[in-house]
Amino acid sequence: MRFGRGEGHIAVITGASSGIGAAIARELVRRQTFVILSGRNEEALDKLAAELGAETCAVIPADLSTAEGCRKLFESSLAYSPDVLINNAGYGIYGRFDETDAEKETGLVDLNVRAMHILFKLYGDEFERNGRGYILNTASLAGFMPGPLMASYYASKAYVLRLTQAVWLEKLFTGSKVKVSVLCPGPVDTKFNETAGITGFFKGITAEECAKAAIDGMEHGLPMILPSAVVKAVAVMSAVTPALVAGTFAYLAQKGKKRI
Ligand SMILES: NC(=O)c1ccc[n+]([C@@H]2O[C@H](COP(=O)([O-])OP(=O)(O)OC[C@H]3O[C@@H](n4cnc5c(N)ncnc54)[C@H](OP(=O)(O)O)[C@@H]3O)[C@@H](O)[C@H]2O)c1
Repeated sequence: MRFGRGEGHIAVITGASSGIGAAIARELVRRQTFVILSGRNEEALDKLAAELGAETCAVIPADLSTAEGCRKLFESSLAYSPDVLINNAGYGIYGRFDETDAEKETGLVDLNVRAMHILFKLYGDEFERNGRGYILNTASLAGFMPGPLMASYYASKAYVLRLTQAVWLEKLFTGSKVKVSVLCPGPVDTKFNETAGITGFFKGITAEECAKAAIDGMEHGLPMILPSAVVKAVAVMSAVTPALVAGTFAYLAQKGKKRI
């Protein structure tokens, strides 16, 4: 199965209303995939749908911070017989763990961890029943190390990373036709920082560059997609560096960010 070779893939994309998700939607449509756009911001989803063209996409708005929202998206999307899940919605919170808002933090866990997990399982089971499919979970370079000043965000992405790697191995050892990959970007120019209430510290790659690398990697069933040379280097360094040392570098990088 290859994207853009008339295979007629149908992809559900969470977090499609902006940033990396919207760029993945554009890239998949360029590769002849029908896309189902999901997010809460219906205006942004409708705008993207109008840009992509009615024959190439559908919109299913959903708030994934609740289990019902996840199930609603899954059940509504089944009418289209999807064979691809881009499990991408997520956000970060900036600040010391003893000063951040507890409700916002648990909201982050509900989206970045619980919703990601529920959708991974629902679509994973469905794709196994159908004997084929692709799942791309969006983690982050943040998943490789402790992240002081964005502690819960980094921890949430470690969960996405480890869960996907473990399932990738299960699929390998059972000869499954369902391919799972985890996308681990470093900084990408999106409204991620604005949502987290900070300015960026490092120059990011574009969402388009990230999307292209993501789909190329997913198509080839790569376990882990590191969408730039810098990200690859940091991932290797953090794998051979004690966690508290890597975490200290993360702290210095986070400390350089300004609140907005
Ligand atoms: N940008 C980076 O530097 C970077 C680096 C590494 C990893 N990532 C990861 O990449 C993914 C996409 O982020 P991005 O950079 O593209 O940021 P973004 O432009 O802020 O996109 C975040 C997306 O998540 C959706 N979302 C937020 N809360 C939601 C909810 N309760 N229910 C459903 N959807 C929700 C948003 O849609 P609505 O507002 O319409 O709901 C939006 O489409 C995230 O998982 C992020 O952690 C980003």
